[in-house]
Amino acid sequence: MVTTMLDVDRSGMLGAIASLPGQLPDGYERAGRAADAIAAAWRATGATGTPRTMVVCGMGGSGVGADLLPAAIEATAPVVAAKGYDLPGWVDARDRVVCVSYSGNTAETLSCMRQAIERGVVAAVVTSGGQVAELATQHGIPVVEVPAGMQPRAAVGVLFGALVGVAEALGVVGPAGARIAEAAAGAQRVVDLHVEGSVDGDPPALEIARRLHDSIVVVYGCGPTAAVAARWKAQINENAKVPAFANAYPELDHNEIVGWEFAGATGGRWSLVELVPANVAPELRMRMDVTRELIADDLATSLRLDAESVSRAGAVFELVAWGDYVSAYLALVRGVDPSPVERIAELKSRLDGR
Ligand code: F6R
Repeated sequence: MVTTMLDVDRSGMLGAIASLPGQLPDGYERAGRAADAIAAAWRATGATGTPRTMVVCGMGGSGVGADLLPAAIEATAPVVAAKGYDLPGWVDARDRVVCVSYSGNTAETLSCMRQAIERGVVAAVVTSGGQVAELATQHGIPVVEVPAGMQPRAAVGVLFGALVGVAEALGVVGPAGARIAEAAAGAQRVVDLHVEGSVDGDPPALEIARRLHDSIVVVYGCGPTAAVAARWKAQINENAKVPAFANAYPELDHNEIVGWEFAGATGGRWSLVELVPANVAPELRMRMDVTRELIADDLATSLRLDAESVSRAGAVFELVAWGDYVSAYLALVRGVDPSPVERIAELKSRLDGR
């Protein structure tokens, strides 16, 4: 049964997910090779300490690192995501901007990059090529090049590792090699449960995908796993081609919990996934328990994934890997190839034509 299902994975998404642990140190080392140039350009502005903020411009699979970085690693300055056409107005010479676009051709990221170049604040770009690389080269901006040929969202490890390396070069995070190793170990735990030869019976993420199948998935995180919940949502959208939503405790207890009252009236095809960091505070776990008691009747199914990794970076990437596998298997259960995102390609080409 699994063999026929695996045939649907024509572009090899499961293999790409298995490469996540190795991607993390690869990206970090790639940025390390540009570290001197990044640090020298920052010092050349006359700055003495570290930047006031590090602003990360990037969309979708390339932008998610801006959310995962502060979730996984303690930063010494705010890491701010800029997901749109415009750089925030307050960004000036005290800040540094990193533009991340896997393809190098994303309109919003290019627009922010042009504004950042005008303000003289670009620290580096992370890309496999495209216009972002060309523009960076024209302006003498350090380029951290990542290997081409993947779906951007499947390159999350190399993009994240590279972003951490840039942040380290700027002093926005301390020496991060150990954090990258923890992240890789967290992802590896999950890969080990799924790679061929190590699985007796069906892979656990396939079991989860079967439970979530045929429902709209809502993913809840808390603290560092809030960013992971958003990654799960995007992966379910792009891999499984299914609507999904994400939110975070404790805020959701002050609004969204009431919205569940309507879920039953929509036919009850809603499921809940909760992502819990290893050392979650008891008051948060109690909230999760009580929230689930209250909404249980409105759900088709619910499940809670507790990270086994104790470190923050490990827990974040352990749960990222779970979401990558579950969303890919959800696609296979639905009989769709997880890799292509034709709607995004169609949207980009229609926008280009106007
Ligand atoms: C596709 C994917 C998308 C892209 C986004 C931006 O796999 O993950 O979310 O990441 O459309 O494109 P890039 O990453 O090329 O800047």
